[in-house]
Amino acid sequence: MNALELFRLDGKTAVITGAGSGLGYAIAEAMAEAGADVVCGDINKALNEATAARVSALGRKSLALHCDVTCESDVVNLFQQARDQLGTVDIAFANAGIADPMPVPLHETTTENWNRVLDINLQGVYYTCREALKHMVPRGEGKLINIASMWGLRGSPFMPIPSYTASKGAVVNLTRELALEYAPHNIQVNAICPGFFRTRLGDGGYENPNFVAMAAQATPMGRIAEADEIKGTALYLASKASSFTTGAVLVSDGGCLAR
Ligand SMILES: NC(=O)c1ccc[n+]([C@@H]2O[C@H](COP(=O)([O-])OP(=O)(O)OC[C@H]3O[C@@H](n4cnc5c(N)ncnc54)[C@H](O)[C@@H]3O)[C@@H](O)[C@H]2O)c1
Repeated sequence: MNALELFRLDGKTAVITGAGSGLGYAIAEAMAEAGADVVCGDINKALNEATAARVSALGRKSLALHCDVTCESDVVNLFQQARDQLGTVDIAFANAGIADPMPVPLHETTTENWNRVLDINLQGVYYTCREALKHMVPRGEGKLINIASMWGLRGSPFMPIPSYTASKGAVVNLTRELALEYAPHNIQVNAICPGFFRTRLGDGGYENPNFVAMAAQATPMGRIAEADEIKGTALYLASKASSFTTGAVLVSDGGCLAR
């Protein structure tokens, strides 16, 4: 197959959690630009609908569905609707996530904070992977992509975010486990570990010039990424271009982890 054709997604359906903002929006746009229909799930109705509208403007079918990834029935419904209304689930991104709202050392954190981060960033990924796989296994193919973080591969040297690093480390190793379990089913399961990308993560952290300057300085490339710089990595893992790649942890961090 022609190399560029490997990246086409015509006739495919992608489901994306946390599609309303940041990386989720960019991934939805990338899927649609490559030819896929897109099912958008988010707790933010207005942002989710705006992403779906962008997909439609690109000439693809879209659905915007309320989905809180901590709510099992919401995630079940997201995938059920995808199949009922668009016919199939070929690609799924477990993308929804939050930053640690209480960045303090572990002995100062609360169980409530710990549970909140783990609920969204890990339990939500579990529900999303499980429901995606239920639809992919009978079809004998699929692409499942988990959005982890570079903080899933190391401790954070800047601020204490123990619940976040724990959640993302778990997502990385869940990805490897699922890759092994589902390799015989022709389902590739991979993770993306982003570095600093300008999004709404962390209640507008990237609107804070001091945070952006710190992040840029900590990044060997000397800058943070714009959200749409995730598109190439996402499309690679969602398409035939990655047909022999599973269990991979693809780092996109401007060189941070090379240090
Ligand atoms: N931006 C970065 O620098 C960076 C770095 C590493 C990893 N990540 C990861 O990327 C993913 C996307 O984050 P982002 O940076 O685009 O942030 P963002 O805040 O811009 O977008 C996250 C989206 O998820 C949604 N969301 C939050 N809680 C949800 C829930 N319970 N159910 C469904 N949707 C929910 C939000 O409404 C929002 O639309 C997250 O998993 C995050 O941890 C981001």
